[in-house]
Amino acid sequence: MNTRRVTYQHTIEYEVVGTSNLFHPQNWALLSAGRIEDARRFVVVDGNVEKHYSAAIRDYFACHHIDVKIVAFPGGEENKTMDQYQSIVRQLDAFPIRRRDEPIIAIGGGVLTDVVGFIAGSYRRGVPYIKVPTTLMGYVDASIGIKTGINFNGNKNRLGAFHAPQMVLLDKSFLKTLPRRHILNGVCEIIKLAVIKDAGLFHLLELHGAQSVDACFQDEQGSLILDRAIEGMLEELQPNLFEEDLARRVDFGHTFSYGLETRQEARLLHGEAVLLDILISTLIARARGLLSEEETSRIFRLSEALGITPDASLLDPGLLCESLDERTYHRNGLQRVPMPRGIGDCTFLNDIHADEIESAVKSLEDWITIKHEII
Ligand SMILES: NC(=O)c1ccc[n+]([C@@H]2O[C@H](COP(=O)([O-])OP(=O)(O)OC[C@H]3O[C@@H](n4cnc5c(N)ncnc54)[C@H](O)[C@@H]3O)[C@@H](O)[C@H]2O)c1
Repeated sequence: MNTRRVTYQHTIEYEVVGTSNLFHPQNWALLSAGRIEDARRFVVVDGNVEKHYSAAIRDYFACHHIDVKIVAFPGGEENKTMDQYQSIVRQLDAFPIRRRDEPIIAIGGGVLTDVVGFIAGSYRRGVPYIKVPTTLMGYVDASIGIKTGINFNGNKNRLGAFHAPQMVLLDKSFLKTLPRRHILNGVCEIIKLAVIKDAGLFHLLELHGAQSVDACFQDEQGSLILDRAIEGMLEELQPNLFEEDLARRVDFGHTFSYGLETRQEARLLHGEAVLLDILISTLIARARGLLSEEETSRIFRLSEALGITPDASLLDPGLLCESLDERTYHRNGLQRVPMPRGIGDCTFLNDIHADEIESAVKSLEDWITIKHEII
């Protein structure tokens, strides 16, 4: 037998850049990657964002003499589909971009940046792209990593790729027009990170979270919370960008939520499903002595103080067990469920049983529907 070994190393490098007034003609951030002479840009923008910024975006590119094609994309999980993928690729193909120096620009929430990221990762086997998150979910989570994807065959993110952006541009003023439900949706991911990684962030949320939610994170404390959340998220993502290590702290809240959001797509946003998972996991952790009564109460009180009310009618222990099985498969045969160990630290469990899930669901239903006290 004749064996030839091929090895190749590739460095992933991209910048996550804070900016403001993104579409001001003197702000070069959007054009700081790629060619600007005799250049084109293919821009995909969330429909709800386009309503507010359509003229500003067009003026921006006109002012810089860039030939631009702007495609409006309807946000929402129901649009994270192969149909939307194909529709955008067709428009991209009809407006060809140079393969290396005319990055696609994705401006929108996590759905849009996931879909457009997957397009960038697969079109001509990979072209550069820039992400501009406009939802809190995108700002603190979806935009800053390298995962892309679409839902397929009844499963979330079943098709996708790791494809790093060339740049991520963070302008928190987009959050001003985001409906409150979507602000809270993103807050759930911040709570996740605080519980398993950063006690200081948890404390900041306790002190200022409610006020920052009211201010759509435009206030000073809101900026602190966002910066700390992004810092923490990047600390977790960077050493494990391709998820070689399947035991990931940032998967806290992403075990039982998978089944919930798949079955309840019309009723539950991603972050809302994550919060239900966080609360179930918190109760399992308490039962195992990983969290004290006081720590458990703090997590529940925080969710209440921030005004995030989970919907108890969605809880179904059977579904949560199925979701755990599916995630075990996804995590290559071990549960690897991240669980809080005190607030700000984490351990991984591989032996969660159906009866623990059932009893956590019962306690959570009681908390939601009856007393708002943990039994
Ligand atoms: N790739 C990753 O690492 C990663 C991480 C977390 C979540 N996600 C994915 O993110 C998706 C959820 O993202 P999302 O919550 O941002 O949903 P989304 O993209 O559907 O946006 C939510 C809603 O907000 C609207 N919107 C967007 N920006 C707005 C603005 N500035 N003002 C007013 N309305 C605005 C959208 O039109 C949509 O109706 C899920 O599919 C999830 O799987 C991906």
